[in-house]
Amino acid sequence: MRIGFFDSGIGGLTVLAEALRRLPAKDYLYMADTLHVPYGTKSPEDVRKFIMESVGKMVDIGIDALVIACNTATSIAIQELRETYAFPIIGMEPAVKPAVEMNRATGRRVLVFATPLTLKQQKYGALLSRVDEARIVDSLPLPELVEYCERLQFDEEIMKGYFLGKLADYDLDHYGIIVLGCTHYPYYTNILRDLLPPHIGIVNGNAGTVKRLAAQLNRFGIGEGGGSGDVRFMCSGDDSAYTAKMEIALAYIQENLVLSGETESVG
Ligand code: DGL
Repeated sequence: MRIGFFDSGIGGLTVLAEALRRLPAKDYLYMADTLHVPYGTKSPEDVRKFIMESVGKMVDIGIDALVIACNTATSIAIQELRETYAFPIIGMEPAVKPAVEMNRATGRRVLVFATPLTLKQQKYGALLSRVDEARIVDSLPLPELVEYCERLQFDEEIMKGYFLGKLADYDLDHYGIIVLGCTHYPYYTNILRDLLPPHIGIVNGNAGTVKRLAAQLNRFGIGEGGGSGDVRFMCSGDDSAYTAKMEIALAYIQENLVLSGETESVG
């Protein structure tokens, strides 16, 4: 029994780290589409094709459930994946709903960080229409951040400079929550925490996604046991160097795992 986790690169490891903590008695297959990362600045047509090819490779190896540990890939292909495969498939979308609910009492706004492609999809627009009646959500694309992350660029000064530049036009007194709407972004939670005023909460959808995964496994009768926390890595490109990078990134996020917020996953 093996659960697949899919992302364009190392972002989905932030979700896998949460799964290893909450569901340690499972085995995992993690795939990164290293030939095509980043997705967030590419066309929906190309990204759709890349996702279907990569998931096909995971299915050939054998998985019993799949987490699309990528907001961008979910917004492009979750429907087609569910129409293609019969095993449980859990997707992710920016945790806007819990952020809006958590923020209601404060009267402050919500700021969503995500890839340009996620923010352009109809799925994101539909999410806002559903949960942001009071129109308190603003969205900020961070097209460069996935590439910084893929280079394991976690230098505090460099990354603080990047975020301060992106936030220069925002009056942070007006915001109560920042939503990390891309699975690469939680690597920067601690850096953001240092940089943001203390009244701003930071949420991501990882814990909620793993809870949804556990519920789906139970529904399919495969919730109990099934493994020992074994993680197998695969890539669409050259494996050896990237596998070493994934191991470093997973250890980094496990050390810096910040539990923040609940999520809305696609379900
Ligand atoms: N990790 C992906 C997400 O959650 C985005 C990565 C990319 O742009 O390739 O949206």
